[in-house]
Amino acid sequence: MKFLRLLLLLLVFQVQAQQGGMWIPSLLKGMNETEMKNLGMKISAEDIYSVNKSSLKDAVPHFDGGCTAEVISDKGLILTNHHCGYDNIQSHSTVEKDYLTNGFWAYKMEEELPNKDLFVTFIIRIDDVTEKILAGVASLTSEADKQKRIKDNIAELSKTSPKESWQENSIKTFYDGNQYILFVTETFRDVRLVGAPPSSIGKFGSDTDNWVWPRHTGDFSLFRIYADKNNRPAAYSSDNVPYKPKYFFPISIQGLKENDFTMVLGFPGTTREYLPAVAVEQIVNTLNPAKIEVRDATLKVQNEFMRKDKAIKIQYAAKNSSISNAWKKWIGESKGLKKANAVEAKKQFEADFQKKVIAAGKQAEYGNLLADFEKNYTEINDYALARDVFTEVALRNTEILNLGYKLYQLEQIYNTRGEQSFNDRRNNLINGLGDFYKDYNTNIDQKVFEKTIEIYAKTYPKQFLPSTFENVNIVNLSNEIFTQSQLVTYEKVKVLLSGDSKTVLENLNKDKGFQLVKVMADNYLKTVLPKYDEINLRITATQRTYMKAILELSKKSDRIFPDANSTFRVTYGKIKGYKPNDGVIYEPFTYLDGVIEKYIPGDYEFDVPQKLIDLYNAKDYGNYGVKSKMPVAFIATNHTTGGNSGSPALDANGNLIGLNFDRVWEGTMSDIFYSPEICRNIMVDIRYVLFVIDKFAGADNLIKEMKIVAPKKK
Ligand code: ARG
Ligand code: GLU
Repeated sequence: MKFLRLLLLLLVFQVQAQQGGMWIPSLLKGMNETEMKNLGMKISAEDIYSVNKSSLKDAVPHFDGGCTAEVISDKGLILTNHHCGYDNIQSHSTVEKDYLTNGFWAYKMEEELPNKDLFVTFIIRIDDVTEKILAGVASLTSEADKQKRIKDNIAELSKTSPKESWQENSIKTFYDGNQYILFVTETFRDVRLVGAPPSSIGKFGSDTDNWVWPRHTGDFSLFRIYADKNNRPAAYSSDNVPYKPKYFFPISIQGLKENDFTMVLGFPGTTREYLPAVAVEQIVNTLNPAKIEVRDATLKVQNEFMRKDKAIKIQYAAKNSSISNAWKKWIGESKGLKKANAVEAKKQFEADFQKKVIAAGKQAEYGNLLADFEKNYTEINDYALARDVFTEVALRNTEILNLGYKLYQLEQIYNTRGEQSFNDRRNNLINGLGDFYKDYNTNIDQKVFEKTIEIYAKTYPKQFLPSTFENVNIVNLSNEIFTQSQLVTYEKVKVLLSGDSKTVLENLNKDKGFQLVKVMADNYLKTVLPKYDEINLRITATQRTYMKAILELSKKSDRIFPDANSTFRVTYGKIKGYKPNDGVIYEPFTYLDGVIEKYIPGDYEFDVPQKLIDLYNAKDYGNYGVKSKMPVAFIATNHTTGGNSGSPALDANGNLIGLNFDRVWEGTMSDIFYSPEICRNIMVDIRYVLFVIDKFAGADNLIKEMKIVAPKKK
């Protein structure tokens, strides 16, 4: 018995040790394929990525540059998250036809809605071009020269590498400059909105539930790709026809259990898994706390106003969501890094690394790397803090300062590029500002200004702080700006921006708001940024050598995967619950029952549509329920990050079982330090998606297009 338990423990340990990582689909053969098969995968690496036949990769486009989608019919129908389609759903919404609130469904193709600027990109081919990109680099001595040569090589090869006329080449670096990969891609720009549930399903739980498990959000929307008559990319035209994909996903409604194999294909944005301990310490102790403090202040002000006023709630919905999304992630990340002792673990890794360097006799090449990191991160600390505080306060949270910064850039453009560029930019600004003021509330911004300027004066490193902010009386400053600056209304700004360039610049420089931004921006751009860039260039060079050394001194079983960089990746794992805290265990599945438990009538986060309540009461789940329950979401050990939103979650046979849309709060540190114990990705169950399309929306026209793998009859 004891022996059996030991064996089991060993097995569990092994399985856990084999998870994490975002792998390059063209390089799965060997270690990854073996691991995936051990975890239960039934298909092969060649089925996932092949240049010779259609493969899973042909059904996974990058959606709008920031999310992922998957093709689910032979007529170019694609699925992604509700929060990925949000802007487009919003752009078609008016008070009379409020698709955000009520949802939208095209019951015929003619009803599908075109979207200006929306695009999806497919990967055609992936080639390693490291040698070509690094040609002639080793002989150069200065880091700046090396960077320039690499840039030139990339530009040259992107131009000359063979592709079809309607395709693009793009080259990205992996392993911090140790590997370069060329992607041949195809981008489609006629992508139409097909369906979206009401926000009370697609955004259910909103910011309160964001980054949190257990979760009950039906975070999906549907679009369709259109192509020209030759099935090639084309600008929007009513003559375009539904795109015929090389591959589309069959959908499995056979059901899932804990420990089932899953994989996620998609376009993860950024991770930094190979930072040294000193950098992680800086994030946890200095940078995250400063950013969190600024956003904390902004959110408190916004939330207070939004709770009191329905119109403000709508005006500030998107801004508030996006400020809160990163804020909540950073809090979870810091907590997780502390709880997992990430810094200690990194220090241990570094001690081992140093031993390996000595054992390999590589002290001359790699012996000083950790000391270099230590020195450079210590030196960059205040510059990095100033950079984050300036960015958060002036560019991200205080709207009037952000606007002032755009005008500051206008002045820079005049100084560097002259009259014509000035006029172009001015006209662009005036046009764009309508949207800005539509959602601008001076009372909120003034309060945010007061809070964030206070933090700026306190947190911006003393040696850089402009004298204006020493012993500043914030109330006086705020009154002066918000009563005297022309930046507070659209009408006044338009006046401020009219006339010839000389007049505009003179008037700008008399404006109190502009003057303040200029002090802050000049300080940042002249005192902070140049030195920051200089030190950062050294850090980049050290990181590249460190990564090279890690690769060189590691064994295959060390599983050194490249950081995310918005390129196509595969991650895999198992459906699994987790223990967030002492005495708490989370199960891996949620059900519609939980939606009803969370239901608060009329609430803007937790309201539930009547039709959904009726279906729940009648247990009318069609083919999609199990034992009179309707599955909603599930979690697994797949290693994902921002950009993986909308990614297909696949079973052992490569069938679609869900859509990735989030991670659990306790595990958001996985961008820096992945732990299979606690890092989980959150997916909406495909059965809930189909149930909403079919039973809730009655759009069986869409269901008919799909290929559904039905449960085995018992
Ligand atoms: N946390 C998810 C992501 O990073 C979902 C964000 C959208 N939802 C929200 N409530 N802001 O994108
Ligand atoms: N919601 C995120 C996105 O937009 C995915 C969640 C994550 O960061 O893992 O991509």
